[in-house]
Amino acid sequence: MKSVSSAPGKVILLGEHFIVYGGKAVLCAIDRRIRAESELDDSGRIRIESSLGKADVDINANLVEVDSALRPVVFIAKKTLAEKSPVSGIRISITADFPSGVGLGSSSACCVAVASSVLGLFGSHSREQTLQLAIEAERTIFENTSGADCNVCTYGGIIEYQRHGATERIQFEPGFTLVVADSKMTHSTSDVVSRVKRYKDANPAIFSLLCSQEEGLIEEAIAALRENNLAVVGSKMSQNQKFLEQIGVSNETLRSMIRAVDGVAYGAKLTGAGDGGCIIALTDGTNNSASIESLRRENFEVFSVSVDTEGLQHKIVQ
Ligand code: PMV
Repeated sequence: MKSVSSAPGKVILLGEHFIVYGGKAVLCAIDRRIRAESELDDSGRIRIESSLGKADVDINANLVEVDSALRPVVFIAKKTLAEKSPVSGIRISITADFPSGVGLGSSSACCVAVASSVLGLFGSHSREQTLQLAIEAERTIFENTSGADCNVCTYGGIIEYQRHGATERIQFEPGFTLVVADSKMTHSTSDVVSRVKRYKDANPAIFSLLCSQEEGLIEEAIAALRENNLAVVGSKMSQNQKFLEQIGVSNETLRSMIRAVDGVAYGAKLTGAGDGGCIIALTDGTNNSASIESLRRENFEVFSVSVDTEGLQHKIVQ
């Protein structure tokens, strides 16, 4: 028996970095997925195959000795087998249809898909149970994760998220597509977050003003999202980009990608920590192809995504 699960990746539509200081962020699940397939055996080992690498470790292996890319996966397997399994080994295979390490939520989608796949070997499991295990697993490599990414990868759709606060799903008719362009520059979220903290400490008054402007911008953007007013949502995204420029998390490559769709898409900004990673441009049927072409003309790697409204999927294969 195999237990097969998949979870969508995500983008941050608005609010990255400011969420660390109490603001809101708007996250959107995208129709690119990570799939995890698990099967029990009696090998006494955890064997993982994935595009992030391979692992073949003893079921009692110490987590700190496991390569960090696969540590959350080993954590989920160890914890779940210790609690539930009469047998001692497991094989997990993971595949992704989007790049990792560029701010599209690959780590969270992987934690959610693996948590569901492994829990699924032992009977029915709720989305909430899966989410809690996935967040616990992600904390083995990113101690301060807000849990927002895992949340949207579990439930899909668009969520309004506040650190240590309530999560609210934004009800809407998805009427847009996002063009994602990859700078191919990997970044370290924790380094960029530390740099923003230094900016904030050096410029407390400016930073506090930016936080309150960002808060107003997000409220207006959420209202516009509900009405599917893409011109307004796009202009809020572009304004959000200006705030991100000001706190120093953008760079020339990201700016040239954003310039390429200026006047073509409804708006564009970096997504995630910045310093590399991806930009997103808001489009619909009227300007999607033109936005893609503008970016391709400048030799950027581009793909188009829609909102995933399904979230986590699971099935058993005999
Ligand atoms: O690059 P990502 O997708 O890990 O996004 C980081 C988002 C931040 O706001 C910069 C950090 C955080 O924990 O919210």
